[in-house]
Amino acid sequence: MSDSLTLSVIKADVGGYVGHSTVHPELLEAARTRVREAVERELLIDGHVTHCGDDLELIMTHQKGVDDAEIHKFAWDVFVDCTEIAKRLKLYGAGQDLLSDAFAGTVRGMGPGVAEMEFEERPSEPVVVFMADKTSPGAWNLPLFQIYANPFNTAGLVIDPAMHQGFEFEVLDVFEHKSIRFACPEEMYEILMFIGAPRRYMVKHVYRRKDGEIAASASTQRLSLIAGKYVGKDDPVLVTRCQSGLPALGETLEPFTFPHLVEGWMRGSHHGPLMPVSFADATPSRFDGPPRVIAAGFQITQGKLIGPRDLFDDPAFDGARAEATKAADYLRRHGPFEPHRLGLDDMEYTTMPQLMEKLKDRWQEVNEE
Ligand code: F6R
Ligand code: MG
Ligand code: MG
Repeated sequence: MSDSLTLSVIKADVGGYVGHSTVHPELLEAARTRVREAVERELLIDGHVTHCGDDLELIMTHQKGVDDAEIHKFAWDVFVDCTEIAKRLKLYGAGQDLLSDAFAGTVRGMGPGVAEMEFEERPSEPVVVFMADKTSPGAWNLPLFQIYANPFNTAGLVIDPAMHQGFEFEVLDVFEHKSIRFACPEEMYEILMFIGAPRRYMVKHVYRRKDGEIAASASTQRLSLIAGKYVGKDDPVLVTRCQSGLPALGETLEPFTFPHLVEGWMRGSHHGPLMPVSFADATPSRFDGPPRVIAAGFQITQGKLIGPRDLFDDPAFDGARAEATKAADYLRRHGPFEPHRLGLDDMEYTTMPQLMEKLKDRWQEVNEE
């Protein structure tokens, strides 16, 4: 056990209500009871349970560090318990994200998404937990670049001496299972070559260069790669620390005024705009979307989660929502055509292999170019 604090966000879709649109109140209640018990027996300092779409989200503070077997086991057990309720209620896709029957020390690689960070609590510690549904972890690349590398987004990069040296990004290659670090601003053009391809390269962590302080941590699990076949999208979470030498709350939220296109939406097979919504509107329904993101703000005080504040429940994001709806209308008119539908590489997890097999004898050689 260390003196420093760990913030762990662990999430899974263990059954949808109705379809893939939201989480049933009984599951939320059961998870809240389990979290309360874990606080009472001092496994956790504090915990908050919420949902984004059909994903059950456990936001937890403790002193056991990242990747801790006990914390991960606790989250796993909550998801297993909630799966039982989901099965009883015949909710949709009960246990969908639990890819294994037995826990093996960490939830990594077993289906749930994880974003964790360990730090010394500052005199005041504002954090934002972003949670998205109907998209994949690459969705954070663009906003993370904006927050930590773009002075047109983050005035503090220019104005605040603590941020003037910039930030270091750890980028994961999820196909090759390796990572690389880029220092910005010097390597802005290099990093963009990679993170501009968010299917394969995903920002995992961001650090302040002045002192190596951790600023952001994202979940990077891709369920389809874990399972080897399509098993739903790996709706991601992101944790950021804000203020006094890190991007301000408003600088952290600002990139979400642009509902950029992400992978996901219907059947995890379409591009669609990422719409910032209030907690109440985190219920993707139109064509199972469009992809949504919520932002829960907390002050962390001696490890306690003071909050959340529903940060996108703000008319300042109405414009982004309207723009997302317009982009959704435009994309939907493409029906099953790219670029609304994802490229063929992503179709390998769907009907394409069966179709190729079925039609393999009907292809004729052609001689002309
Ligand atoms: C996307 C998602 C949904 C489902 C769709 C079909 O992440 O979860 O869009 O893919 O509703 O679901 P099934 O095949 O379960 O009927
Ligand atoms: Mg689901
Ligand atoms: Mg989901």
